Parts: sequence; C-alpha cells; structure tokens
Amino acid sequence: MRRREFLKGCASLSACSLLFPSFVFAYSGQPLKRYKRAHLVWEDGRPVKAKEIKPEEEYLFFYPFRATPCLLVNTQQKLKGAKLRLEDGKEYIWKGGIGPGRSIVAFVAICTHQLSYPTRERTLISYHPPGKKSSLLERDRVIQCCAHMSAFDPAKGGKVIEGPAKDPLPAVILSEENGKIYAEAVLGRDLFEEFFDVYRRELRKEYGSSKKAKEEVNRCVTTPLRKYTKEVIRC
Ligand code: FES
Repeated sequence: MRRREFLKGCASLSACSLLFPSFVFAYSGQPLKRYKRAHLVWEDGRPVKAKEIKPEEEYLFFYPFRATPCLLVNTQQKLKGAKLRLEDGKEYIWKGGIGPGRSIVAFVAICTHQLSYPTRERTLISYHPPGKKSSLLERDRVIQCCAHMSAFDPAKGGKVIEGPAKDPLPAVILSEENGKIYAEAVLGRDLFEEFFDVYRRELRKEYGSSKKAKEEVNRCVTTPLRKYTKEVIRC
C-alpha cells in the first residue's frame, strides 16, 4: 500500500503515528529494515541518557538480534546526514543521529568486507575517538577494521573512507523519547543472514543455539567496548 493510501485509510493521524513512527516516513524508499523497538540501558538497568555518552568512549550493544553487535559513539560534531551508495549501486540517505547536533550515532559493528566483529577475546573493529588518530589514516573520529584496514566515517552514515570494504557500515536508527534512547531499525546493507551463516559454529557455542543467537531483543545492555572485549586492536 502506498503511503498516501495508507494515510487515507487511517482512522486518525495519531493512530498512524503509533503504527508508523516519524522515522519510517523520513526513511521511506530507503533500504531500511524495522525490528523490535529496543530500549538502551546500562548494565545496572538504568536507561542510557544522551548526555551520558562520552565522546572519548565507544560503546557496544547488541541489536536487533542477541548476537549482532553495534557500536554507539558520540562524534561531538554537528551532523547533517549523508548520501550513501551500496556496492550494487542503490543509493540512500542517512539523516544523522540523536542528541545535540545529531552527533550520537550507532552502526552495526560487523565489517562489510569479510564480517569481522567484536568477540569477548578481541575486536579488530573499533572507533578512534576525538584526539586518538588512526595511525593508518592520520585522522580521528573514524571506525576502522584492522582485519584488512577498511575504514568508515561515522559522521557520514558509515561511508567507506578506505577499502577493501565496498559497502557502508549499516546504520542503526536511534530515537529519543522522554529522555530514553531506543534502537528502531537498521539502514543500509542487510548482512545479518550472511553473518549468522558464516559464524554459525561460533555463535552456537556462545549462545547455546542458532535460534537463541537470532532472537530479536527489546532491551540493549550498553557497555564500553573495552569492558566487553579483552583486547581492542587498533591500527
Ligand atoms: S573484514 Fe574488515 S577489512 Fe576485511
């Protein structure tokens, strides 16, 4: 059903907005996949507040599935959004994050090159916060994967800065309501099935079964990346 037809069919505008939050219309026609709405909380159960997200830190949470890691960062810049392109030529628009300057952003922490991701032992993918430059790129505020040196720009929707990755990092769409932060959807390349397939054995070992690894979450425990993993490998 087209958006106009749907709106005509709605009993009231408020009923429509309950079913379709504003970000759905904002990303209409984009490669956006909605999942369960999930509330971001700290390990002690308190809601994550935008003002608590420190620019010098990188945080990890799992969304939309129990086993799919995401990075949350505050780039401390005024973000205007970005136009991105997938390897297959499809273009899409990312509109920035939440908080002051829309600078709080989240991305799926699975490299679009060969799916490297943070484990409890180590991570090759991480964020270089303001003041901590990547030695390879001589710049900060970059998400880098040291498996084969791909780099992505979190201020530009996860755009590829340096290959071999071809696709941008998929962006997690965040929203803020009554001071709480929610993960709502994923924008960009859909790589989850491939990820579950490639790491079937490892995920089964960690989560008990593939079914458990693929469970959708409605609550995301958020923790500094350095606390989740023993070794953050930077390059
Ligand atoms: S897996 Fe990340 S650059 Fe190859």
